[in-house]
Amino acid sequence: MSKLISLDEYEKRALEILPENARDYYQSGAGNEKSLAWNRADFSNFRIRPKVLRDVSKRDTSVNIFNTKIEFPIGISPTAMQKMAHTDGETATAKAAANENVIAIFSTIATTSIEDIAAAAPNSIKWFQLYIYRDRKLTENLVRRAEAAGFKALVLTVDAPLFGLRRRDLKNKFSMPPHLKLANFQDVVLSMDGSGINEYVARQFDQSISWDDVKWLMNFTNLPIILKGIMTKEDARLACKLGVSGIMVSNHGARQIDNTASSIEALAEVAAEVKDEIPIFFDGGIREATDILIALALGAKMCFIGRPVVYGLACAGQEGVEDVIRILKREFDLAMCLAGVKNVSEINRDMVVHKNYYARL
Ligand SMILES: Cc1cc2nc3c(=O)[nH]c(=O)nc-3n(C[C@H](O)[C@H](O)[C@H](O)COP(=O)(O)O)c2cc1C
Repeated sequence: MSKLISLDEYEKRALEILPENARDYYQSGAGNEKSLAWNRADFSNFRIRPKVLRDVSKRDTSVNIFNTKIEFPIGISPTAMQKMAHTDGETATAKAAANENVIAIFSTIATTSIEDIAAAAPNSIKWFQLYIYRDRKLTENLVRRAEAAGFKALVLTVDAPLFGLRRRDLKNKFSMPPHLKLANFQDVVLSMDGSGINEYVARQFDQSISWDDVKWLMNFTNLPIILKGIMTKEDARLACKLGVSGIMVSNHGARQIDNTASSIEALAEVAAEVKDEIPIFFDGGIREATDILIALALGAKMCFIGRPVVYGLACAGQEGVEDVIRILKREFDLAMCLAGVKNVSEINRDMVVHKNYYARL
């Protein structure tokens, strides 16, 4: 295999390798996939303004997240069912994240259990992504297990009362291959039963979830809670008011409602509202380090990647995920150097402009 040198190359190779069912599930967005295209394309609407002659010989790429120093502002977003990409699935991701010292978020609907993920990488920083099930006892039990296994934060996904209209999955009648299981659940009722993921979600997830459920969660866990899927200033304000520990600006990889703003478009609106009250995390369309620079300049504290990790897994398991992260790290260090910043805190709003700025001059 010739050396892959960018996240785009990993994607291309993975899409050649993956079977159609899994490939479509990982790749697809909602509806006509307009927001999916925008998630990528809208980074091109921003222009970086590099500063020169700043002595960038010593650079510090680290950030402080919940009182822990993290070497790079790059983390792993939760993606479900990673064993469809590689037999080692979430275990490989956890080990890669540990070796590369990045935060990794693991999905409720993973193919490896909370406990097995923790055992694979006991000392890494793991966050648990939570869906709220109709059965609140079961939901609470997931939280307790994540706490006991040493997960350091809960990432509550708030944009998925149902799953979006994913036409490729409809066409394929997407369901998990029978040899895999949703490993966080023993109960056969909570398996997919060959019925397809949308039916599973409609049966099990609670469409009635509201801000009261966030309060409910905050009342029984001491873990920091991050709301994933905030796309407007109004919701960002409610999140701050409630006292959550952080929010993630994300349109769920454009898999929920089509025609939403891209994640990067929504970021500036949310950041203007939140300012420094709570940390803003970001995902959606990050494929190279200049994307990270732009997102940080627009107000994100740290960026996460979803599909690129799955594609790294598909290409080369743990080694593939590590390589994907290493590529981004190298690119990010170089981008900081060339943009004229010595540390991440120097990346501020002045560093990028919308491209229209140049037309108005
Ligand atoms: C295959 C796949 C599965 C996903 N599964 C979950 C999930 O279980 N929970 C969740 O909150 N988000 C899930 N997401 C959304 C990701 O966490 C993330 O928001 C998105 O992938 C970021 O965009 P990117 O893929 O362009 O980096 C999934 C995304 C993909 C592509």
